[in-house]
Amino acid sequence: MRNIVAGNWKSNKLMGEAQEWMDGMAGWLASHEGVEVMVGAPAPYLATLASAAPDGLHILAQNVSAEGHGAHTGEFTADMLKSCGVAGAIVGHSERRARFGDTDDKVKAKVQALVDEGLQAVFCCGETLEEREAGRQEEVVHAQLKAAVLELPVDALDCVVVAYEPVWAIGTGKTATSAQAQDMHAAIRGWLTESFGAEKAEGVAILYGGSCKPSNAAELFGQADINGGLIGGAALNPTDFQGVLAGHPELKG
Ligand code: 13P
Repeated sequence: MRNIVAGNWKSNKLMGEAQEWMDGMAGWLASHEGVEVMVGAPAPYLATLASAAPDGLHILAQNVSAEGHGAHTGEFTADMLKSCGVAGAIVGHSERRARFGDTDDKVKAKVQALVDEGLQAVFCCGETLEEREAGRQEEVVHAQLKAAVLELPVDALDCVVVAYEPVWAIGTGKTATSAQAQDMHAAIRGWLTESFGAEKAEGVAILYGGSCKPSNAAELFGQADINGGLIGGAALNPTDFQGVLAGHPELKG
């Protein structure tokens, strides 16, 4: 069983602020264990942050190319990330699906590219408000998962982290109830079990994302199939992020 709390800074922070954040996490990381800590940083800082990261902090990109090396101006590949010491990338985030052309096919290629390099693919899925109101949330999330994860070879699963992020909860202050989140996480665990068997499926960290903060983290992370979180706003300063981490039942320190 993996337990993970990952921050996603999105398009925030300048380089100096990113370094200050790491400084603010270093002491805490040295005195806590039991939960893997990751952060998704803007691309220009990745190599510097990865080489300076305190022990116990894994640096993620927020994107990766679906293509290999070649004439693809502006793209960066999974092996480039690996060569900089980056641990993996967040892929399929709803902000990229909605606004930057990340179709299911592209997300699948990005997951595959990361897995091929042995990097972590933090795969995001989640329904819109309209889809939830129509009762289609499981159908939508299942389709996203099937497109990019459920047909991977079984060993690839060691590189996959699933983040369930209902679109209506992202940055809105509106959190899924722990029961809504647990229901979806249990469904995701079930689909992983059907494809890969119970033992492999149990080993996958399924994270909740969407207005997760210090005041609601313990309730969410206390659910049977919620193994941690993918945190936006509350990951922007170390105090809030540590407050979220403190809600994880497996955290020791
Ligand atoms: P918020 O925590 O700001 O709602 O963002 C969640 C998210 O999108 C993380 O990827």
